[in-house]
Amino acid sequence: MKPKLVRTVAALRRETASWRKQGLRYAVVPTMGAIHEGHTHLVSKGLKRADRVIATIFVNPKQFAANEDLDKYPRDEEGDVRKLGAAGTHLIFLPSPGDMYAPGFTTTVTLGGPAKAGLEDKFRPQFFDGVATVVAKLFIQTGADYAMFGEKDYQQLKVVTRMAKDLDIPIEVIGVPTVRDPDGLAKSSRNVYLSKPERQHALAIYSTLTHAAEHIRAGQNLQSAIRAATRTLMALGFKVDYVTVRNADTLAIPQHRDEPLRLIAAAWLGKTRLIDNIPV
Ligand code: PAJ
Repeated sequence: MKPKLVRTVAALRRETASWRKQGLRYAVVPTMGAIHEGHTHLVSKGLKRADRVIATIFVNPKQFAANEDLDKYPRDEEGDVRKLGAAGTHLIFLPSPGDMYAPGFTTTVTLGGPAKAGLEDKFRPQFFDGVATVVAKLFIQTGADYAMFGEKDYQQLKVVTRMAKDLDIPIEVIGVPTVRDPDGLAKSSRNVYLSKPERQHALAIYSTLTHAAEHIRAGQNLQSAIRAATRTLMALGFKVDYVTVRNADTLAIPQHRDEPLRLIAAAWLGKTRLIDNIPV
C-alpha cells in the first residue's frame, strides 16, 4: 500500500477529520525515520488496535545536544516511506523543522518523576525536555486515539505515558516489546554506526543483562548482580554509563525485590552509544 504523505499540520488535520467523520480510530507511531523492523513492528501493533495508522518522521533537533549526532543522524525519506508503506501505514506526517518550531517558539514541557530517574536524564540532560515537547505536539497535532512506543527506550516510554496522563491528552500510550536481531541485539537506527567487529561485540549488552536477570531470579542480591554485569561489560571494552535495576513502573530504586523490576543499561562501544533493558 502506498501511504499518503503530508507535510503540514493543516494537511494532516484534513485527513484525520475525514477519518473521524467515518467513525474510524487511529494510532500514531512517532519516529525519527531511519526505519527498521522495530518501527514497523509498532505499525503492526497499531493496526491491531486501530483502523488507521499514522507514522511521523521528524529528526527532532530539540532532543540532540550540541555534541550529539543530529547532523549525521541517518536520513532516507524514500526508503522510510517504502518500509512504512509495506507495513501498512496509511498516512505519514513529515513536518519541517521550521513548521514544528516556528520563529518565536518558546514553550517546553517541564518534567519530573520518571524523567528525573538518573538514567538517560543524567547523561543527556536536555533530552527528555526535547522529547516531551515534540511528542506533546505530535499528540495534539494528530489527535490520535493510541500512541505506540517501544520498550527499547524504556525511560522515554514512561516519560511520555506520564506526560499524556498529567496533561489530560486523550491518547492511550501503548508500550511494545523490543524487536531484536536473531542474536539478541536490539534493533536501532544507530546500529548502522557500528563497525563489523563492534557489531559482534554489541550483543554482549543483551546477553549480560539476560545473565544478570537470571541470577536475580535465582536469588542473587541486586547490587552484586549489577556490579557483575558492569564488570563484564567493562572487561569487554564498553564504556558503561549505567547498568541498574529499577522499579519497572516508576523507575525508582527498588525498595523490595518483589517489586516489578527492570534491568536497564547504557554503554558506549567506540563512538556509538547503545541502550537496552529487559524485565527481571
Ligand atoms: P526513534 O529512535 O526513531 O524511535 C521511534 C520509536 O520506535 C520509539 O518508540 C522507539 O522506542 C521505537 N523503537 C526503536 N527501536 C525499537 C526496537 N528495536 N523495538 C521496538 N521499538 C523500537 O524514539 C524516538 O525516535 C524519538 O525520541 C521520538 C519518540 C520520535 C521523539 O522525537
